[in-house]
Amino acid sequence: MAAYDYEIHDYDVVVVGAGGAGLRATLGMAEQGLRTACVTKVFPTRSHTVAAQGGIAASLSNMGPDNWQWHMYDTVKGSDWLGDTDAMEYLAREAPKAVYELEHYGVPFSRTEEGKIYQRPFGGHTTEFGEGPAVQRTCAAADRTGHAILHTLYGQSVKNNAEFYIEYFAIDLVMSDDGVCQGVVCWKLDDGTCHVFNAKMVVLATGGYGRAYFSATSAHTCTGDGGGMVARAGLAMQDMEFVQFHPTGIYGSGCLITEGARGEGGYLSNSEGERFMERYAPQYKDLAPRDYVSRSMTMEIREGRGVGAEGDHIHLNLNHLPAEALAERLPGISESARIFAGVDVTKEPIPVLPTVHYNMGGIPTNYWGEVVNPTKKDPHAIVPGLMAVGEAGCASVHGANRLGSNSLIDLVVFGRAAAIRAGQVVDAEAPAAEMNQGSVDQAFDRFDGLRHADGGVPTAELRLEMQKTMQADAAVFRTSQTLAEGVERMTAIAGKLDDLKVTDRSLVWNSDLMETLELTNLMPNALATIVGAEARKESRGAHAHEDFTTRDDKKWRVHTVAHVDGSKVTLDYRPVVQDPLTTEAEGGISLKRIEPKARTF
Ligand code: FUM
Repeated sequence: MAAYDYEIHDYDVVVVGAGGAGLRATLGMAEQGLRTACVTKVFPTRSHTVAAQGGIAASLSNMGPDNWQWHMYDTVKGSDWLGDTDAMEYLAREAPKAVYELEHYGVPFSRTEEGKIYQRPFGGHTTEFGEGPAVQRTCAAADRTGHAILHTLYGQSVKNNAEFYIEYFAIDLVMSDDGVCQGVVCWKLDDGTCHVFNAKMVVLATGGYGRAYFSATSAHTCTGDGGGMVARAGLAMQDMEFVQFHPTGIYGSGCLITEGARGEGGYLSNSEGERFMERYAPQYKDLAPRDYVSRSMTMEIREGRGVGAEGDHIHLNLNHLPAEALAERLPGISESARIFAGVDVTKEPIPVLPTVHYNMGGIPTNYWGEVVNPTKKDPHAIVPGLMAVGEAGCASVHGANRLGSNSLIDLVVFGRAAAIRAGQVVDAEAPAAEMNQGSVDQAFDRFDGLRHADGGVPTAELRLEMQKTMQADAAVFRTSQTLAEGVERMTAIAGKLDDLKVTDRSLVWNSDLMETLELTNLMPNALATIVGAEARKESRGAHAHEDFTTRDDKKWRVHTVAHVDGSKVTLDYRPVVQDPLTTEAEGGISLKRIEPKARTF
């Protein structure tokens, strides 16, 4: 057994991660007087939410008619009928409240002439249940909305006495023998000390795992740490095969150019100068949902109409828009285009390519953020003491494809919901439970094993192999052959985790060891993704299978449940929640409205 001294910290709630969801949960917990710690591997305002650009969806009706039922309908259709209906209703209903709360906390939203929150169009957001024109539903702070939200939530959390443990890396969950989450084991990066957080509720808000791929808009810190911890605790991941490609990553660097660019009037063109989205999505054109646009771009390139010397990308045109509008509404991406593509957006198009952006799948939860460990007897069984929110979780509100700007609203609505639920189930008066020492020891043993790993494969080499395999074999379009080969390759790659080489044995700011821990988190996420994709014999949302080109609701309107143990993935399936929270008579949406149908734009 590895011997590490550690400090014990007792809290009511420990939130792991300080992005939008983590901070909104932290703030909500602290506001209720729960003793709340937020443990984060990066400084809170450097969390990946800071990179969110275009905005946050809520039917405020500031720019024209809108309502939550239209928002819900768009989300259901956007999800390609894989989202859970109760969660999607909760999201759309609570969104305006959650945005006004942000405004009152101090988020500096852009304003209309009358002083209302400015809203822009985003892909897949419509009026009249998909029959009317595009709606302006996405509330924006120029093109730095995530930045504005993150700074505000951090300030409010500090004001409400939440305690921050910054640059602490979460190694593993502490689980009791009967399956209750009791806390988390951490390593403090800057001084090498170890810490065990004992909590009545642990909230995983660790973000996505975009870095399982070679080219992603995600920060290098997006390594699926929550999924990794959950997999090692024997718990499930859900719908991992659904990986979103954002249509407009800058060609080469993958840096995000917001969909807000098309919301403000930008358009895509091919080598013939054609606005090709008019062919693929006659009604909404460049404002069709992302899976649609990414596939259309890929088809243009495949059919020889890509731009550039190698005909391998597409142009995003903004140069027809007034320079003042670009400076006011899109200053951030104007700068990114200059730095990462050498382009002056007022004069030239930006070279772009679909780039991995978001994971619809994650740790399964109900719409209160409580983690679910589905069993045959009870597909909605809860794991006591454990919640997951934000991109780490899967409520499931995005199903097979997320609408742009539904991510920021997911973070705040479900971060807030988790806090409301914790207020109901956490007994602040109860004494701290005795921790399962065996679980704590196991975490330190794993940590020590990796710290002294002396095999033949450096971490960076294995990570690159994984990233290139995922990029090639679990791409925008997938075939039975690429997926089968991908599963074989990824199984072999995961097997090499036993042969890792870590060269730095120290404990203080050991980035070699930290990246190794991150790789052990990325790997189960990546494996669950490719194995789940290989098994799903249909096309739905972001899962575009060339050998099974249609959606098969009879067989496949089910959530994939994956358990990962080393390089072995075991799949199962659980039902999609089809009942909304309220009936039509109670003011809810009509069931007829949200029945599955062909998804065209
Ligand atoms: O395009 C964007 O600004 C990204 C937004 C989102 O992913 O929701």
